[in-house]
Amino acid sequence: MRFDVLTLFPNMFSSPFQESIVGKAIDKGLIEIRMINIRDFALDKHQIVDDAPYGGGQGMVMKVEPIVRAIEFVKSEDASTRTVYLTPQGKPFDQNKARELSSHSHLALLCGRYEGVDERVREFFVDEEISIGDYVLTGGELAAMVMIDAVSRLLPGVLGSERSAAEDSFCESLLEHPQYIRPSNFRGKSVPEILLSGNHEAISSWRRRETLKRTFMRRPDLIAKAALTKEDRKLLQEIPKEKESQEAGDGL
Ligand code: ADE
Repeated sequence: MRFDVLTLFPNMFSSPFQESIVGKAIDKGLIEIRMINIRDFALDKHQIVDDAPYGGGQGMVMKVEPIVRAIEFVKSEDASTRTVYLTPQGKPFDQNKARELSSHSHLALLCGRYEGVDERVREFFVDEEISIGDYVLTGGELAAMVMIDAVSRLLPGVLGSERSAAEDSFCESLLEHPQYIRPSNFRGKSVPEILLSGNHEAISSWRRRETLKRTFMRRPDLIAKAALTKEDRKLLQEIPKEKESQEAGDGL
């Protein structure tokens, strides 16, 4: 899969993608990340990319011409490229959106700076707008990095085992159960007995219970969206009681 990042700050991307899983995926040729400097598409002598808004107001806005020329350059190589504008005004990015984007072979990620881009870019030249959360970053670059990371790990061959992506948090809208490794006792804090039992059925049911419990405690909104079995619902019914006694024990 190819990502073209349309940005005024291509250097921001040099180090994050040299490391670890994404770095290896690039080395293996599974993904390609190309920086497109929007400034290179400005035609004037000073390569100006921003201007003050019509009607007045604070700050500068990114000009339409260099951005559209950059998008057209990317599309001239591959007309099927999906163009995404990163903005806090976009649709919230989540695991389903990551999965959907991973089905495209070529994404162009437009990173805004300053007070954003001329409205005509958004209206006529991008396919969708995405936000990574309800907070305002200094630009879309970090949002593009988050998106590239989340999408890349879903591509075949990027993670060591295909299973890890299928089983991790959010693949079914639930949070992952706790994980423990050696030592079995660290400063008096021991691993739950059941995990040392070798009883795979019991371990699997414990993990499911912990998944449900953790999701219920931390993200009750996700429980409402999850596809739960009859057995899950039974386990869930026991959790509010546990929560009460835990809170009583915490002195709340
Ligand atoms: N640019 C600035 N803030 C952003 C956000 N929260 N998501 C995506 N792009 C952004």
